[in-house]
Amino acid sequence: MSAKTKIVRSERSLRGNIWEFRKAGETIAFVPTMGALHQGHMSLVTLAKKKADRVVVSIYVNPTQFAPGEDFDAYPRTEKPDVAMLKKEGVDLIYIPKPESMYDVHHATKIRVGGVAEGLETDHRPTFFDGVALVVTKLLNRVAPDIAIFGEKDYQQLATIRRLVEDLDMPIKIVGAKIARDEHGLALSSRNKYFDEEGLSIARRLNEIMRYCALQMSKGENVDLATDRAAKALLAAGFSSVDYVEVRSPNSLTVLEGGILNGPARLLVAAHCRGVRLIDNFPVRALKASQYAINAAKL
Ligand code: PAJ
Repeated sequence: MSAKTKIVRSERSLRGNIWEFRKAGETIAFVPTMGALHQGHMSLVTLAKKKADRVVVSIYVNPTQFAPGEDFDAYPRTEKPDVAMLKKEGVDLIYIPKPESMYDVHHATKIRVGGVAEGLETDHRPTFFDGVALVVTKLLNRVAPDIAIFGEKDYQQLATIRRLVEDLDMPIKIVGAKIARDEHGLALSSRNKYFDEEGLSIARRLNEIMRYCALQMSKGENVDLATDRAAKALLAAGFSSVDYVEVRSPNSLTVLEGGILNGPARLLVAAHCRGVRLIDNFPVRALKASQYAINAAKL
């Protein structure tokens, strides 16, 4: 393995470098990003290094996943420090596609994933996953890795990409990476850069409120009661609005019936704080049937 990081901007040069790796019989792990890199992204890179001989990271702020009025123009673009971080980690290839090479004027193909991509985020950002599915398909086709790594931070996005890759027969293993959080439990995000100090302290309450909600549900509290209380607690903490606080099955993201959990689940949240939309999610511990009965009887 060479120690030198290469930056490639054309598809031709990307494919040439990938071909060299393939010729040498090396495996490739790919981490797609929109840049403004932080330790959350870097944890994906660390995992990628463990999983394959070569690591490719892309940096591209994808316009098709931003709706009109969202922060596409304002989205932080910090190529220099991003490249420095990736070089320090010994990433082999940094792919920074030229924007005009991604969607040419004749581009006419759309990709819509159903099932896991419906509801939750899609209720609030109706075309978001269409844009993600499209750009991820294009990037996966260009890089053709063995493995691609995505963060659990964007839990529904990860589930959507797993579905997409399976449905379209892409021979790529999708690996999910744990959520990286700051010392107060706030999930790291490029958009945290928008917060002033007061905004940050409000945002940090989300973790505590959601963990309490997850704990109460794991003790047998009714899901609707617990999630309603959590949404109210977010508003009381200073969040301006809550898009959703919902509990879903961990893999298919289907709605769980019955009101009280009797197996593993995922608690997902999206809420607005000082003009920044935060998303996060938490595992909810499975209850054993015996515990479930005891807890249910206490209600
Ligand atoms: P971006 O927001 O830059 O995130 C790139 C990857 O980093 C995603 O897989 C995301 O889930 C992961 N990530 C971000 N913050 C994380 C954290 N705190 N802990 C763990 N992983 C984290 O997600 C996108 O870009 C785009 O939608 C993309 C997939 C690149 C398509 O444009």
